[in-house]
Amino acid sequence: MNGKKIIDTEKKIMAQTFSKRDRIITRGKGALVWDINGNEYIDCTGSYGVAVVGHCHPKVVEAVKNQVEKLIACHASFYNDARSILLEKLIRLAPKGMERVFLSNSGAESVECALKLARKYSGKIEIIAMMGAFHGKTMGALSATWKKKYRAPFMPLVPGFKHVPPNNLGKLRDAITEKTAAILVEPIRGEGGILLNSDDFLPGVREICDEKHVLMILDEVQTGFGRTGKVFACEHWNVVPDILCLAKSVAGGLPMGATFAKEDIMAAFNRGDHSSTFSGNPLVCAAASAAIDVLIDEKLPERAETLGKYFKDKLEALAKKYNVIREVRGLGLMIGIETKFDVYNILIECMEKGVLVLDAGRNVIRLLPPLVIEKQQIDKVVDVLDAVLEQENK
Ligand SMILES: Cc1ncc(COP(=O)(O)O)c(C=O)c1O
Repeated sequence: MNGKKIIDTEKKIMAQTFSKRDRIITRGKGALVWDINGNEYIDCTGSYGVAVVGHCHPKVVEAVKNQVEKLIACHASFYNDARSILLEKLIRLAPKGMERVFLSNSGAESVECALKLARKYSGKIEIIAMMGAFHGKTMGALSATWKKKYRAPFMPLVPGFKHVPPNNLGKLRDAITEKTAAILVEPIRGEGGILLNSDDFLPGVREICDEKHVLMILDEVQTGFGRTGKVFACEHWNVVPDILCLAKSVAGGLPMGATFAKEDIMAAFNRGDHSSTFSGNPLVCAAASAAIDVLIDEKLPERAETLGKYFKDKLEALAKKYNVIREVRGLGLMIGIETKFDVYNILIECMEKGVLVLDAGRNVIRLLPPLVIEKQQIDKVVDVLDAVLEQENK
């Protein structure tokens, strides 16, 4: 299929819910992707944070190849070797105390599972989420998501959700009632603009949850799997939630969501309470097993920490040069550059110069590169941003 036909077909047939970039990506390796014309890009979108172990990691590719010839589909009502191997690895990886997991297919689904579990366990209906939060776009997850633009066309959403300002433990405490089942928090608000909480916030939420007998749900869909310099971001603050949501990167690029919970909490789910046809699909499980091995063997969280500091230092030097940059912030290889203007042009100009970056809101450039990115590739990203900002600054 030629390029024009590919674009025309997606335009004509696919639901038009995505704002598209004018490139056809056909190949990827590590931190690089190539378009149909052979142009190379350093992928600081990481496919929206998915490509933590890099594109087409050889170990993930090999695991998928091996499994695809053995068994692709096996409903969770049967036992399966690939699934069982993954489950053990997942629990070894998870924060201590997380002893059970429900497998699904996406971030929103991992959040849906957490919401249902919190209601079932507590017998209560209220969920408190944060202003500025993003938890996905299915009806339950959307009810916890903050942005009006996403919510307004689909009202009424699921009842029982309220939002409080992040970093305000007093208001959070005041919002809890006898009907509150859980507090849902992102360790860093990714879609919201790479916004970190104050250091006392997550420990404070944990304390309030313990005191008020309310569940703490952490949404680590974007921050989990090494991205911030620890396997899970909650480790930075020594906080263990009651329920933890993971997705995006866990299966090396294939679709998987995972909702972890403490044993007694997951025990609230009875047979039939929650399910999904593809839950624990063997092909995806084999990919996730390999991705976990890569994460550990290649010490990717440590790499994210070191390279994240390197990247941030260089970006901070840019911030000194261009006063249009308000702030550089983030943790590990989850980095935001807040500017004084709309960043759309910057995304396009970077792309034209061989670097793919994301936005987060109107005025934040978001960088979620694969953790296997090389130092020279980071240098090139900074050079490109330098050139683009110089142009924009004129
Ligand atoms: C924190 C967080 N939760 C949930 C989601 C939803 O994940 P998905 O798009 O896989 O449904 C996202 C997606 O960006 C996210 O960043």
